[in-house]
Amino acid sequence: MRAIVVTDQAAGNAGMRQAGRPQPQAAINDVVVQVHASGFVGTELSWPSTWTDRLDRDRTPSIPGHELAGVVTALGYGTTGLSVGQRVFGLADWYRDGTLAEYVAIEARNLAPLPGDVEFTVGASLPISGLTAWQGLFVHGRLQAGQSVLAHGAAGAVGSMVAQLAREVGAYVIGTGRAADRQKALEFGAKEFVDLDNDALEDVGGVDLVFDLIGGDIGKRSARLVRSGGTLVSIVGPAEARPAKGLAVDFVVESDRAQLSEIVQRVRDGRLRTNIGNITTLDDAIAAFKPTKRISGKTIIRVRP
Ligand SMILES: NC(=O)c1ccc[n+]([C@@H]2O[C@H](COP(=O)([O-])OP(=O)(O)OC[C@H]3O[C@@H](n4cnc5c(N)ncnc54)[C@H](OP(=O)(O)O)[C@@H]3O)[C@@H](O)[C@H]2O)c1
Repeated sequence: MRAIVVTDQAAGNAGMRQAGRPQPQAAINDVVVQVHASGFVGTELSWPSTWTDRLDRDRTPSIPGHELAGVVTALGYGTTGLSVGQRVFGLADWYRDGTLAEYVAIEARNLAPLPGDVEFTVGASLPISGLTAWQGLFVHGRLQAGQSVLAHGAAGAVGSMVAQLAREVGAYVIGTGRAADRQKALEFGAKEFVDLDNDALEDVGGVDLVFDLIGGDIGKRSARLVRSGGTLVSIVGPAEARPAKGLAVDFVVESDRAQLSEIVQRVRDGRLRTNIGNITTLDDAIAAFKPTKRISGKTIIRVRP
């Protein structure tokens, strides 16, 4: 099968190449999926899991990409709940070969059915950004109606999902980002926008939940904005500063079939809009990962025309 592989951690994106790889076999509880569309997160090549297995052994050449939408072609021993020919989408294991390939072997529990009226490219754009926003807001952040949320990077992949899901439950959303992102962040559900390059973040006052996907100085300053009893949720590692009278939680997104189904249902009925910045092909993907101009939103790879 055709795949994109990486072999050289130091080379970053420059070390990506297209290669022929053996078609994967379905292990116990796996399915094999013919990938129709795949998602790639720009920071993946800095994650240890791209390069090693769980015992820290080198697993290169490895195939990056962890989001997919496609069709089940084979079931492993003991696999239940999905069937051959079914449309699915989901989040592939960090430590196994990923989805920038024509086929991927993946545990069935990491997938949910993809309804027939949702395009594969849309399905592949939802797992990481949608699940991360859902888990950060509702599982780790325990967000309630009437609370306020500071949604960093609200025009980006995760932030746009955070803004929409928070608004849907009746939270007041303050989005942040670059000056050029203001309109997009407001369209995704923010009531106010802070241009991090030009506005004073401290003018926000207090919030119940900070959703941090930037970290560094912005993360530290954001911790001070968390009200008593509130939560700083970070997806960029442990918070460097904790709220004085609140919680700090950092987490890595996990696949969850029920949450994937909640997310895709919202896309179908118009409560949630995906945020795709660019759709490319497997042949053009490597060039698309090094854009010459700034792209806001996810890059999705249409693996099967
Ligand atoms: N822990 C987890 O499970 C998890 C899951 C998903 C993502 N992540 C991480 O979360 C981060 C965001 O992911 P994403 O997919 O949402 O990325 P994205 O689509 O690039 O969105 C990030 C947004 O934040 C903006 N931004 C970043 N730094 C900024 C700054 N200093 N000032 C103003 N705006 C800034 C970006 O603008 P510019 O592009 O102009 O900088 C962009 O609009 C990444 O580091 C990713 O690895 C973690």
